[in-house]
Amino acid sequence: MVIGVVSTGGQLFRAAVGFEFSDPALEAVAGATLAEVEDVLRDAAVSADPVVTEAARHLVDAGGKRFRPLLVTVAASFGDARAPKVVLAGAVVELTHLATLYHDDVMDESLVRRGAPSANARWGNSVAILVGDYLFARAAHIGADLGVDAVRLHAGTFSRLVQGQIAETIGPRPGEDETEHYLRVISEKTASLIETSTRLGGLFGGVEPHHVECLARYGETIGVAFQLSDDLLDIASDGLQSGKTPGTDLREGVRTLPMLYALASEDASPSAQRLREILAGGPVADDALHAEALGLLRESAALKRARETVREHAERARLALAPLPDLPARRALEHLSDFIVDRTC
Ligand code: IPE
Ligand code: IPE
Ligand code: MG
Ligand code: MG
Repeated sequence: MVIGVVSTGGQLFRAAVGFEFSDPALEAVAGATLAEVEDVLRDAAVSADPVVTEAARHLVDAGGKRFRPLLVTVAASFGDARAPKVVLAGAVVELTHLATLYHDDVMDESLVRRGAPSANARWGNSVAILVGDYLFARAAHIGADLGVDAVRLHAGTFSRLVQGQIAETIGPRPGEDETEHYLRVISEKTASLIETSTRLGGLFGGVEPHHVECLARYGETIGVAFQLSDDLLDIASDGLQSGKTPGTDLREGVRTLPMLYALASEDASPSAQRLREILAGGPVADDALHAEALGLLRESAALKRARETVREHAERARLALAPLPDLPARRALEHLSDFIVDRTC
């Protein structure tokens, strides 16, 4: 089974893209934990003001893979996944992620998210930013129940994430290589929270400290692979499965790895030259030019090369698991690292 269908509180819930629950006990524990996370999320996204509740629940209800809470629960399975604070840790990371999506869609001028209109498309930028802030506050409130160390970890994670978003917006430092800058950005903006998901799962599952460090390393590396594959999807997907508008990076002038590889290529073919010419011009707003560049990128050797880079990171993530005991949870994480390379949503 590639797409895990986890039964949560009577609902069928398509979660855990990429997770192979070959072990029924692990699947049952993950399903039960995710069902409880879902309840906490819905309760957290409530306000005395019905407009805030509607806007805050908008993306909670639209779906999403619940990738981060799932990592929390699978990481916790190396100890006791049903330990009392695992559910709260899962809710904290998902609420934090959700809040960043509200802000990211404003920054990227994205109109579709999780297959639904983005909050900015529906309520405008100001409401989207403020509701994102509201969700951060709700995450912090729940985080307080996890204790001071978790609060500090959460704050540090969020400051790394924001610095990644800032670095992406500002561009490379003087003299900084553009590919190194890009890899730094994705480590900060995306891998930071994914690393914290596996770390929190390990910590609150009572996993031994040395193994928590392995889980955190896995989280950081798979987080980079996850964002790299998201960037490939932005080029290669038709938007139906991803629930987002393809070609957003190109339109916004975010130079992702396939674009950087295309720009650095010495391929003298007319298509490669034409692609370099378009990309060198910065953000591609014109619809016809955008369609042309997206078509060229989809067929490019640069895209294939970028997929190889995803594979390398996914393989590195798998290696980080080597010191962990050979449990079903480890096999699930290994499977995920394979799946990420070819994911379609
Ligand atoms: C989207 O994350 C933003 C990135 C960091 C790539 P997800 O792909 O986990 O989005 P949802 O939660 O499933 O909507
Ligand atoms: C998402 O980056 C990173 C964060 C939300 C912190 P992207 O802008 O690449 O993600 P998508 O493709 O819009 O989900
Ligand atoms: Mg975006
Ligand atoms: Mg973005």
